[in-house]
Amino acid sequence: MPAFFLALALPILLMVVSYILQLFHDSPRRLPPGPRPLPLIGNLHQLDHLPHRSLARLAARHRAPLMSLRLGAVLTVVASSPDMAREVLQRHNADIAARSIGDSMRTGSHCNNSVLCLPPRHGWRALRRLGATELFSPPRLRAMEPLRREAVSTLLRHVSDHAARGAAVVVGAAAHAAALGLLARTMYSGDLDPRTAREVSDVVDEASVLAAGPNVSDFFPALAAADIQGVRRRMARLVKRMYAIIDDQIEQRERSRAAGEARKNDLLDVMLDKEGEVEEEGTDDVRHNTIRGLLTDLFTGGETTSHTIECALAELLQSPNSMTKVQEELNGVIGTKQQIDEADTSKLPYLQAVVKETLRLHPPVPLPPYEAEATVEIQGYTIPKGTKVLINIWAINRCPDAWIEPNRFMPERFLEAEINFMGRDFHFIPFGAGRRLCLGLPLAYRMVHSMLGSLLHRFRWTLPAEVEKNGVDMRERFGLALSLVVPLHAIPQEIH
Ligand code: HEM
Repeated sequence: MPAFFLALALPILLMVVSYILQLFHDSPRRLPPGPRPLPLIGNLHQLDHLPHRSLARLAARHRAPLMSLRLGAVLTVVASSPDMAREVLQRHNADIAARSIGDSMRTGSHCNNSVLCLPPRHGWRALRRLGATELFSPPRLRAMEPLRREAVSTLLRHVSDHAARGAAVVVGAAAHAAALGLLARTMYSGDLDPRTAREVSDVVDEASVLAAGPNVSDFFPALAAADIQGVRRRMARLVKRMYAIIDDQIEQRERSRAAGEARKNDLLDVMLDKEGEVEEEGTDDVRHNTIRGLLTDLFTGGETTSHTIECALAELLQSPNSMTKVQEELNGVIGTKQQIDEADTSKLPYLQAVVKETLRLHPPVPLPPYEAEATVEIQGYTIPKGTKVLINIWAINRCPDAWIEPNRFMPERFLEAEINFMGRDFHFIPFGAGRRLCLGLPLAYRMVHSMLGSLLHRFRWTLPAEVEKNGVDMRERFGLALSLVVPLHAIPQEIH
């Protein structure tokens, strides 16, 4: 019995001591303003299940575009304005470019091989270089266009089947399956069979919520070893399932190479060739872990794409004028062609504006987490080394000083001004900015426009009667990527 009480009391004692030490540690510094923390829990009680929204409300209430607060024992600074995003992601990016990693991600060795997690040093640089030169470089992207066309055709066939039956399509799920198929073709020239596709989709979905959900271990690092909510253990199982799927592909490829079959020159071939190089530069040295890590990260990119397509269609269905304009534009430019070519995108300014406006209002990654690797001063405030730094992309994209009627869906605003999402216009940063700008941006750009454009050109869309009556439910679910709580169902009718 005394051992039981000791086991219970020790973590609590550690929490109290770390809290008191923190108070002494904070006092001489001028931290950014923010809400007053309560003992032990800090400001946790002020966050809800959608932290990007509650943090935006707190920043507005405290007039604190750079705001400090305490999430449990963890000092956290949030940048919620374009100016503060510029300070962090441009001016101080050399010192604030490491990821703040949740405890769930410290499972096994995944983090040592993940471009999402690695600190901005050798291993991370090698993986980003590989992504930029072998996967997302303009010539590679051009060479892989037929594969992406095939994936869009599969999506259109799926929707066409539903149109023939007058049945509603679950838009996000259909777009996610297409995005995963497209990524699989890009990575290893193969499609996912339906069972594996479902498994990958389930794993990504569960891991996304688990990694970003509230975890005692993240708020009280002194308790992390106990993994009280079992989040790390659950994540370990998901990573194992994902690695098993990827291992299957690696084994098949090694067998076909050993049998002297022709190279496919896809990402898997390139990574098998370059594996030694990347690993020498600092990532994990377990065989194939670099490939497993990168392919797992890339598969998670599918969710962001499908969320964007789902939200774009949801917004257009609630904005008939915009729907008419985008379909008229497509009709004029694409004519009777059933599917749009990627080269057509540059001739479709209104479609591009719809995508931008969707990403402004519904950034799929609303709150990327960073960690300060050195103490920095921003406009007279101190951000101590080790602080968790969140960029509230959701709040920045709706900044009232930068946007007229910031909460309204109005694609026209992007026709009037030249604003792009490459991380230079700090009031519009759906792909982030600075050194960790989204690695998949060039692929995401092509995927979103060709899928959405083809869906809008080929079909007329309506809402099921029940949804038409009650309105589209746009409530969000927080995760590594946002998703809708109630998936959008929409009824297609073939036009072309
Ligand atoms: C509409 C689609 C997408 C959006 C809006 C998006 C947005 C983002 C954002 C905001 C970040 C964090 C940037 C930061 O930390 O400042 C990010 C990182 C990343 N994204 Fe995307 N993303 C999308 C699609 C994709 C796709 C399709 C892939 C891959 C196939 C991908 C791969 C990555 C990777 C690997 C990182 C981590 C980069 C790093 O930490 O160095 N993304 N993305």
